Amino acid sequence: MGLVIAVNKGRIFEECMPLLAACEIQPSDDPKSSRKLIFESVTGNHKIIVARSADVPTYVENGVADVGITGKDTILEYGADMTFYERLDLKIGACRMMTAGPVGVPEPAQGVRVASKFVNIARQYYQKQSKQVSFIKLSGALEIAPLLGLADCIVDIVDTGNTLKANGLEARETICEISTRLIVNRASMKTKFDLVQDLIEQLENAVAQHVPAVSQ
Ligand code: PRP
Repeated sequence: MGLVIAVNKGRIFEECMPLLAACEIQPSDDPKSSRKLIFESVTGNHKIIVARSADVPTYVENGVADVGITGKDTILEYGADMTFYERLDLKIGACRMMTAGPVGVPEPAQGVRVASKFVNIARQYYQKQSKQVSFIKLSGALEIAPLLGLADCIVDIVDTGNTLKANGLEARETICEISTRLIVNRASMKTKFDLVQDLIEQLENAVAQHVPAVSQ
């Protein structure tokens, strides 16, 4: 029995496929054309699950996946009482978690309304600011919230900054740097130690050799 690997769908999935391929783990069907959500690896040893970001830690915590590949944003948002190990920075999907708001409009001193998909991260950040803040949970397209008057600012992922700019917003404070991480189920770390350790070492090598990410 090999490893069950849960991978964040979308950009992270595409960028980590070359890294997994360097570890001789490749899906037997083409994930781009298939509607399957669980793929056998070509060697038949492993399984790759295509998962929504927030579900990757859940699968790993519950042991239905031995390892998971997702963003540091998802891991931080999942919570501080993590019952899995974060073992490797895959150095892909690099971006920043930032506060942002309408250009030239300062945050109110008190009663700040913050919209985010990452309310746990936002709450932790604003707790340190000793401000009175309320949080509005959205699922995406956060940039709309200040435009509609729903929030004074947002806490969101910023990569190129183009989405902020296109919506009349400016980046303010950096909360933390984000990249894609490998997480490991605690029991699997013991029961499948050799397999997990091999994967970590091979991924480490692939990252060090700058195995190219696929172009977007
Ligand atoms: C992310 C993020 C921003 C955008 C930032 O959204 O939430 O909207 O990318 O990228 P940029 O700085 O290069 O413009 P994503 O595309 O993941 O969709 P979402 O808004 O539905 O989360």
